[in-house]
Amino acid sequence: MNSFSLVIFGITSNLAQKYILQALYDMEEKGLLSAGMSIVGISRREMSDRDLQDYVHQVLHLENIHHRHEIKEKVFQKLCQRLKYISGDVTDQKLYEKLKEQLNHKNRIFYLATYPDLYHYVFENLQRHKLNVQNGGWVKLMIEKPIGFDLKSARDLNHLLLNYFTEDQIYRLDHYLGKETIQNILTFRFANDIFEPLINKDFIDHIQITATEDFGIGKRGGYYDQVGALKDVGQNHQLQMLAFATMDAPAKFSNEAVTKERIKILKSLLPLPEKIVFGQYEGYRKEANVSATSTTDTFYALKTFIKNDRFQGVPIYIRAGKKLKQTVTEISIVFKNPVNRLFSHDEPNILIYRIQPNEGIVLKILTKLPGHEAKLQPEYMQYCYRIDPHTHYIPDPYERLLVDTIRGDQTFFNDAEEVEAQWAFIDPLASTRGKPHIYKPGSWGPKAADELIEADGRKWLEPSMEFCKV
Ligand SMILES: NC(=O)c1ccc[n+]([C@@H]2O[C@H](COP(=O)([O-])OP(=O)(O)OC[C@H]3O[C@@H](n4cnc5c(N)ncnc54)[C@H](OP(=O)(O)O)[C@@H]3O)[C@@H](O)[C@H]2O)c1
Repeated sequence: MNSFSLVIFGITSNLAQKYILQALYDMEEKGLLSAGMSIVGISRREMSDRDLQDYVHQVLHLENIHHRHEIKEKVFQKLCQRLKYISGDVTDQKLYEKLKEQLNHKNRIFYLATYPDLYHYVFENLQRHKLNVQNGGWVKLMIEKPIGFDLKSARDLNHLLLNYFTEDQIYRLDHYLGKETIQNILTFRFANDIFEPLINKDFIDHIQITATEDFGIGKRGGYYDQVGALKDVGQNHQLQMLAFATMDAPAKFSNEAVTKERIKILKSLLPLPEKIVFGQYEGYRKEANVSATSTTDTFYALKTFIKNDRFQGVPIYIRAGKKLKQTVTEISIVFKNPVNRLFSHDEPNILIYRIQPNEGIVLKILTKLPGHEAKLQPEYMQYCYRIDPHTHYIPDPYERLLVDTIRGDQTFFNDAEEVEAQWAFIDPLASTRGKPHIYKPGSWGPKAADELIEADGRKWLEPSMEFCKV
């Protein structure tokens, strides 16, 4: 890999602690960082290079963040040799003068792990100091979701970005796209011919997408109360899950072809403002940094359709939320009941893409219960990540996306058109948000969400933990 400098604006951020620094350690351990590659961290906190090393050491050892495997001192020391720190405010010119002195590579990645309202200062100052100029090397920008908070602000940000970078330099991250479990949906669908002919309106009754958490917002009240569930995970992660599960086969495995198919799905989604339910967990308004009169959604459930021939009339139900009964993210493709009624039953076959936990791809089928009677029992045919010897170590999405950025592969990043297509679907739904339905922590959300799906004679699936158990 080419040697380069990685500049992290906001090295002390929650994002860097939880994901970026952990991924960089893993990459160091696997030899994925080239000799001479350097990491420059920036924030306002006063620290020396040595302080930054101590800080990174502490972050890598934080409990309940990440590392399932031990941090090896030798690897850590190697990582330390790359680390440099600059203390400064991104609005201050002097910071960029210092940065210019530190940058010893023509190849550069600027990673924005800081607040969106600071972005324009960073861009303007990089430009002023010609740090964004590709002069005998490459320059790339990594920028996190959310891109904007509605269609207009997303468009504005996309326009702003193009004043300083070209589209092929901009890596918009939605870390779900870096997940093995999401990327494998493409392999499962398009490398195997068995299921793909069934993924259409003739065989599918409906699709459910669930992303629920059994915990609340923790210390993220300041951010979360401005955003809510629909915009925090619905606008990005869940729409991407839907796109991966329903897109047509790309003409080839390239950024252009894969992104084009995802966008086609996103643009054909039908927003149904009368078919969305917002909820808020009891006690949310007492959380730190949350308004006492907040109407922010900590839960939503919606119904939509894909307006194409393939999925005409196939309802799609999507739900997400916090402080619910279980933490689970999955896509369930629920097949129609068979025409052949040899065995009378109403248990449909379900193809489950389980993103987390018990990661796997699973087909729920009916088998004969051993014995003298013709009794049926549901079983799971399963491919499991954690018990397969080849997948015992699943790379973290941030590692995957950093490697892709270094390589210049944008297949699993969103371009401007894609982000805007997502907002175009979400905006009419978000604008209907009024007073949310209050639900009990530990439940599956408000009753109104059950009524939404039950009105169609269907019900939310209870996610099973009976497969892919480690
Ligand atoms: N946290 C997550 O799980 C997560 C997930 C997905 C996306 N994101 C996105 O990632 C970005 C960062 O979010 P976060 O939650 O990690 O934020 P955060 O923890 O509040 O960190 C903000 C960072 O920016 C630095 N900073 C703030 N003002 C600055 C200034 N004027 N000059 C220089 N540095 C400044 C802070 O350091 P000092 O205060 O020391 O300057 C800190 O390092 C946001 O765009 C967010 O939407 C976060």
